[in-house]
Amino acid sequence: MKEILVLGDVHANYPALKAIGDYLQMDRFNRIINTGDLTVYSTFPNESIQWFRNLGDKAICILGNTDKRILKILKGKKLKKPKKKDKQVMYFWTSENLSQENIAYLKSLSKKSDFNIDGLRIGLFHGSLDDPNAQLFPSTPDSRFIKLAKNSPYGVHIMGHSHVPFYKVIVGVHFINPGSVGRMFDGDPRASFAILKVSSRKIGVEHFRIPYPVTDVIKGLKKYKLPDIYCRMFQAGKKLN
Ligand SMILES: [Fe+2]
Repeated sequence: MKEILVLGDVHANYPALKAIGDYLQMDRFNRIINTGDLTVYSTFPNESIQWFRNLGDKAICILGNTDKRILKILKGKKLKKPKKKDKQVMYFWTSENLSQENIAYLKSLSKKSDFNIDGLRIGLFHGSLDDPNAQLFPSTPDSRFIKLAKNSPYGVHIMGHSHVPFYKVIVGVHFINPGSVGRMFDGDPRASFAILKVSSRKIGVEHFRIPYPVTDVIKGLKKYKLPDIYCRMFQAGKKLN
């Protein structure tokens, strides 16, 4: 049996990422994958990127929309989104505080990736196969998933971006969203992730929620005098409004 740790939407929340690493026996995983959005809204982008870099070839990371905005700022371009100044602060803070090595690492990432395991082809996307900014939810109509499945060379689609964990099988194609490691929106700040098990082409998926020290995230935000809206967001496990 092969096991894949499915992570995503870390959003620089290293305390949450570390809690997952401490909770699991990491050696057991054949792959550790990340659906994108490693950066922005917590003060640990370097630690979060380094965590994946330390895993070497076992890790597969892709770019999310927040990571793409960081690269845009670093190129000297203006940010159109988010519109509110308070929300933009963390993008500029991140672009100013990332190490050169981690900037180079972000630049090396693609918008999507894929790999084979036990004869199974697995696609990794931030939004969906056809749109990196698509938000897929458990409530998204089946017709949308059918369209994705019919145009797909993959038996398994793994994606993030909506921050809503789910697993469904539509016309034989498996769709997995692990939820968000660092920034859940459902009023429960605990870290979300999934484990995918593949055995003789049989597939099993399990989702988890585990606590992490939110106070460490708050301390980081306060240390750099960043807007209070970020503290409230992490404490409440809600969207930034
Ligand atoms: Fe995200």
